[in-house]
Amino acid sequence: MNTSPIGIFDSGVGGTSIWREIHKLLPHESTIYLADSKNAPYGPKGKQKIVELSIKNTELLIEKGCKLIVVACNTATTNAIRYLRENYDVPFIGIEPAIKPAALQTKSNAIGILATKGTLSSELFHKTSDLYGNGVTIIEQIGEGLVPLIENGEINSPEMENLLKLYIQPMIATNIDYLVLGCSHYPYLIPKLQTLLPKHVTIIDSGIAVAKQTQTILEQHSISAPTSTTGNCIFYSNGKPEILRDILQEDYTVETLDF
Ligand code: DGL
Repeated sequence: MNTSPIGIFDSGVGGTSIWREIHKLLPHESTIYLADSKNAPYGPKGKQKIVELSIKNTELLIEKGCKLIVVACNTATTNAIRYLRENYDVPFIGIEPAIKPAALQTKSNAIGILATKGTLSSELFHKTSDLYGNGVTIIEQIGEGLVPLIENGEINSPEMENLLKLYIQPMIATNIDYLVLGCSHYPYLIPKLQTLLPKHVTIIDSGIAVAKQTQTILEQHSISAPTSTTGNCIFYSNGKPEILRDILQEDYTVETLDF
């Protein structure tokens, strides 16, 4: 048994979509969330820079006593998790676009994926899509501009709607029946996407899978907290804390920290 917190980081507020699933499944676990909004978006940055930022976040979470780290960012996972696993002793959980379930379940043989440039150009993403995308048309779309709007609290803005329409139009034209959200910020766009996509399109993200994997790894390492405890959740932002508070929509401690 281990009551140390689980560390979670993302390029900003988006990874709270992953934190939410972890907290729902493991309410007895304490968590420390780092929103690296100051450096958002990670998506257009090169691999080296994404690795550097991931190291900075990891070292802060280790300093704060975290027993396991969830890289709640597809861009950081696909570019940096290998380096992190090789260089730090704590277990890491990553998040990757859910290509596999979409490719296995599609009936129209066409799926869409919306992700950042950093994720779509990564070696890890190509490996996964080559492995499971056989015979399936995968329409890849970089969600340029979406993360900055979310980080600015503009989820329901006309600019957002226009960008989403533009990005999903080629997918609709190709008759996709699954849309994979390959960025942890994008689950916050699901209500809007549902109004823009045909009814038969299923939207999938990786939040629940990451939460289950976190539970499995905690158990494997015998570092779960006792279920009789209640976890304490702390959130740090190096950007605008009010945006993080707004997206959480609950009364949690959000602190400003320069990291
Ligand atoms: N939320 C992140 C992801 O899952 C990063 C988005 C970005 O900073 O560009 O990819």
